[in-house]
Amino acid sequence: MRRVNERNMTSQVVESRSTSKTELYAQLAAQLSSLLAGESDLIANAANFSSLIFHSLPDLNWAGFYFVKDNELVLGPFQGHPACVRIAMGKGVCGTAAAEGVTTIVPDVHEFPGHIACDAASNSEIVVPLVKGERLIGVLDLDSPLFGRFDNEDDQGLNRLVSVLIQSSELQ
Ligand code: SME
Repeated sequence: MRRVNERNMTSQVVESRSTSKTELYAQLAAQLSSLLAGESDLIANAANFSSLIFHSLPDLNWAGFYFVKDNELVLGPFQGHPACVRIAMGKGVCGTAAAEGVTTIVPDVHEFPGHIACDAASNSEIVVPLVKGERLIGVLDLDSPLFGRFDNEDDQGLNRLVSVLIQSSELQ
């Protein structure tokens, strides 16, 4: 018997250009729930999460995860060019969002003090903390070549997707 998450993955990618952002995130939440159904491995689920959003959300050049290990952020599954592996808490956009525990939108990364430039193509960024109960697990990081690419709809939509990931996955 085939399981839901063994279906042809190309059908999982949502067409984005003709869809409103709210609608796109609603579709992605449903797609993600289906994609992660029956699987609890955090790394596998984070890998499929990053692929789904990288190929479904327009104007991204990087999408992926950093996970908390020994009080620093360590690179996890992602899509895009190779990135810096370790980020200290409080450093860069990722470390700042992790330390403060709030979603952080940076319309122009060149104006953000201490921004860590992993990909010269990045001009704006959003970082969403992954929190289970009181515990910080890591962050989701999206980069765009466009200035001002991310807004409150992305904040809400991505937080919804992150909730699906956290609820679906076993955390060590
Ligand atoms: N720009 C991030 C570093 C991670 S990369 O963008 C993938 C930051 O300032 O934390």
